[in-house]
Amino acid sequence: MGNSRAQADLDRLLILIGPPGAGKGTQAKRLVERYHIPQLATGDMLRAARAAGTELGKRVAAVMDAGKLVSDEIVIALIEERLRNPSTRMGVIFDGFPRTVKQAQALGELLSDLGRCIDRVVMVMVPDDEVVHRNVGRRMCESCQRTYHLEFSPPKARGLCDACGGKLVQRPDDAEEKVRARLEAYHRDTSPVVDFYDARRLVCRVDGRGALDEVFGRLVAAIESTCE
Ligand code: AP5
Repeated sequence: MGNSRAQADLDRLLILIGPPGAGKGTQAKRLVERYHIPQLATGDMLRAARAAGTELGKRVAAVMDAGKLVSDEIVIALIEERLRNPSTRMGVIFDGFPRTVKQAQALGELLSDLGRCIDRVVMVMVPDDEVVHRNVGRRMCESCQRTYHLEFSPPKARGLCDACGGKLVQRPDDAEEKVRARLEAYHRDTSPVVDFYDARRLVCRVDGRGALDEVFGRLVAAIESTCE
């Protein structure tokens, strides 16, 4: 399918699901460019609330830093607000949501209320040991939030963002023991979400290992073809 057809498709609702560090955020940004629809990343929204020092940001800080999940009510409210905004009427790439069956059910109810439905759930698969390596080596620009990896995609100048010269920092939840807590939460709470969508025949599984371009190619093929 060519880019022009991809752009002509209206209201594309995609879910990227996968363990922490699977590359959901990295690939979602590329999908935004291809499909011209926004990325709704609950992790980014919560980090932005923290950076802005809002009441919500203060409430979720400790939970996030411990690698635990924020309450369903909080993230569902964030998503509902965005989905009712006209900026998402042409479609959305959900990144990091839904992460529990309760969130998946709430999303289903909200979309049905809006007369919309999920097109495809893409599960990005990466083994646990690689997930740990990717998260522990990740660095993020504290100014523009661009992401690097010390080994796989290092910045040109050590400790500085290529794009804006900002300082690169490690996310508090990227310390190894926090990554392991996040993985545990993924296997316990988010794996059942894959079963939830499998039962609705919406899931495509994609190998998340390899070069960024290769993974992107697999994602696009999964989104634009029938999986089964
Ligand atoms: P969130 O920000 O969503 O974290 P996550 O799901 O753990 O995912 P990440 O953002 O860490 O990883 P990613 O898959 O986007 O990988 P990335 O592209 O950065 O959530 C953080 C916290 O917020 C949660 O723990 C929770 O507290 C809360 N939260 C968020 N949503 C919630 C929800 N719905 N319900 C409840 N709580 C919620 O890549 C990772 C690294 O790997 C980078 O360094 C990158 O350069 C590198 N990399 C990427 N692709 C490749 C590749 N192909 N090869 C080698 N390296 C690669």
